[in-house]
Amino acid sequence: MPVLALTRPVSESIARCELTFSSRTPIDVRTARKQHSAYEQALRDAGCTVERLPGADTLPDAVFVEDIALVLDEVAIITRPGAVSRRAESSAIAERLAELRPLAKMAAPATLDGGDVLRVGRTLYVGRSTRTNRAGHEALTDITAPLGYEVIPIEIGGCLHLKSAASWLGEDRVLVDPARVRPTDFHGLETFPVPEGEGAAANALRVGDTVLVAEGFPRTRSMLENAGVKCHAVANTELAKAEGGLTCCSLLLECSGMPGENP
Ligand code: GLY
Repeated sequence: MPVLALTRPVSESIARCELTFSSRTPIDVRTARKQHSAYEQALRDAGCTVERLPGADTLPDAVFVEDIALVLDEVAIITRPGAVSRRAESSAIAERLAELRPLAKMAAPATLDGGDVLRVGRTLYVGRSTRTNRAGHEALTDITAPLGYEVIPIEIGGCLHLKSAASWLGEDRVLVDPARVRPTDFHGLETFPVPEGEGAAANALRVGDTVLVAEGFPRTRSMLENAGVKCHAVANTELAKAEGGLTCCSLLLECSGMPGENP
């Protein structure tokens, strides 16, 4: 099935992004945009059609579309992001997703960021983070249990989202940073711990038969390639300063009728 990747441009105001665990350091918007375009090209190279949603320069974190929705085959769930500053990002995403899936919307008091949801088949591992609260876990369960999904809470430490520290590699394989998640929490899955000192490499994006990995983490890449994983390294130095990883910058949907690209 063809895969549609929804993205959104890097906002002019990215320097005013939310930060939870990192200190603020200057972000070069031009470089960030160049790296983001290369990321979109990597998605195309992996077989996606990329559709760039309209930019939102007044919303600093708008590039991180993953947090605003969780798209399953049956439904697109519009989340209620944990950071108040990010809630205005939802309308543009919801408008487009409504054309592609039935919508479900989370409401107060639930908060949930899509970056906290790691899907493996019909299991949704959900981080207990500063962004995703207990009501968010419950709301997600209420929406997805009738569709046959199981929601499993995962404790995380010292990072923004679950997917800052764990990513799906395909089949039953998960890349983890053992400093921030317990590999044993992923019962029944094969876990690949990132080498010490490469914790930031634990956010990787499986798309088609490829895994996009952040450039600059050669030991993680070698480990994955030795395990037969096809990797494509993508530079992410600028958005990493905004606590954004590779999964954060797209929403992937399997779609039968594919629209044209608007890069
Ligand atoms: N800067 C990404 C986030 O905090 O949501």
